[in-house]
Amino acid sequence: MSIVKVDLGKRSYSIIIGYAILSQLGVHLKRLNMGTDAFIITNSFLKKKYGARLLQVLSGAGFNCHFKLIADSEKSKSMETAGVVIKELAKFDQKKKVFIIAFGGGVVGDLAGFVASVYKRGISYIQIPTTLLAQVDSAIGGKTAVDLDLGKNLVGAFYQPRLVFSDVSFLKSLDLTQIRCGMAEVIKYAVIKDQNLFRFLENGYRQVKQRNPVVLQKIVHACSRIKADIVGRDEKETLGLRSLLNFGHTIGHAIEAAGGYKGYSHGQAVGLGMLAAVDLSYKMGLVARKSVLRIENLIRLYGLPVKIKGVAVAKIIQAHYYDKKFSGRENKFILISGIGRAKVVRNIGLDLIKEALCRII
Ligand code: GLY
Repeated sequence: MSIVKVDLGKRSYSIIIGYAILSQLGVHLKRLNMGTDAFIITNSFLKKKYGARLLQVLSGAGFNCHFKLIADSEKSKSMETAGVVIKELAKFDQKKKVFIIAFGGGVVGDLAGFVASVYKRGISYIQIPTTLLAQVDSAIGGKTAVDLDLGKNLVGAFYQPRLVFSDVSFLKSLDLTQIRCGMAEVIKYAVIKDQNLFRFLENGYRQVKQRNPVVLQKIVHACSRIKADIVGRDEKETLGLRSLLNFGHTIGHAIEAAGGYKGYSHGQAVGLGMLAAVDLSYKMGLVARKSVLRIENLIRLYGLPVKIKGVAVAKIIQAHYYDKKFSGRENKFILISGIGRAKVVRNIGLDLIKEALCRII
């Protein structure tokens, strides 16, 4: 087991990473003194698979529990679902002090965090991420959100959890597509911040595919450390540091939106977005060809697509203007100057962006 600290003064919290550590959850929760009643937001698959065990651990530690199930779909990240969840939470919250447990992937985590941030102007919550993507990224750093028809994650707040509890044994139940989706974010961390992790990934494909617990723990630990460091220094993405985590996401989000969120999964779109960003970096003379090829090979090795099919360049260009990080029509890209080195570059010409997109068409 390892612990990574997110250092935010009085709002600091731990990320606990281990294999088959659920039995230790009660001890950590008691120490946090958040209340006696746990409102657990999850989906029916996870409840069926782990609900009894979770209940046993929490009841054994003296907590009252209530499960609130939401559909396992991005559609659950809506104002409507948040309203339904909040009403049920208010009913549960009759006698004692309640806190929220987000038990699931990115959808559960973002919605539960949002509910925690607005109910009674903010109550405590913890994240128990069950997907690779959530363990390495979305469960850490307090970005909570629901979507609007106009765009994803448009309503939300920065609201930090009190604990992130990452048990990599949950990753055994993920299919290969979900592992690949998480690996896109892992590759992102390696490319922007960690040459050693990059090298490790180049050699570790077979072990990742086999869900080797030691290798998964090492990966989740390395990414958590990078994210904790960035969040600790630029919690609200105002200093140009947290923005680095959006590497591959500007074009990635545009690919998702242009495909009507049906064509490519988030991880696949981020993989393609990283390739476009690397190509832009190369065309602007920032990075050597050798590094471009290594990154492309790594993305391919982990089974992520390197070419887009069925989404027009014009649609992607149109969609990228709606990125919520744009101000007016000024664009902002995360580019690299080597493996492990990234920076923010603004106002890139449309011709260059189109050329980079043609690279992945
Ligand atoms: N997923 C990017 C961030 O948390 O900033």
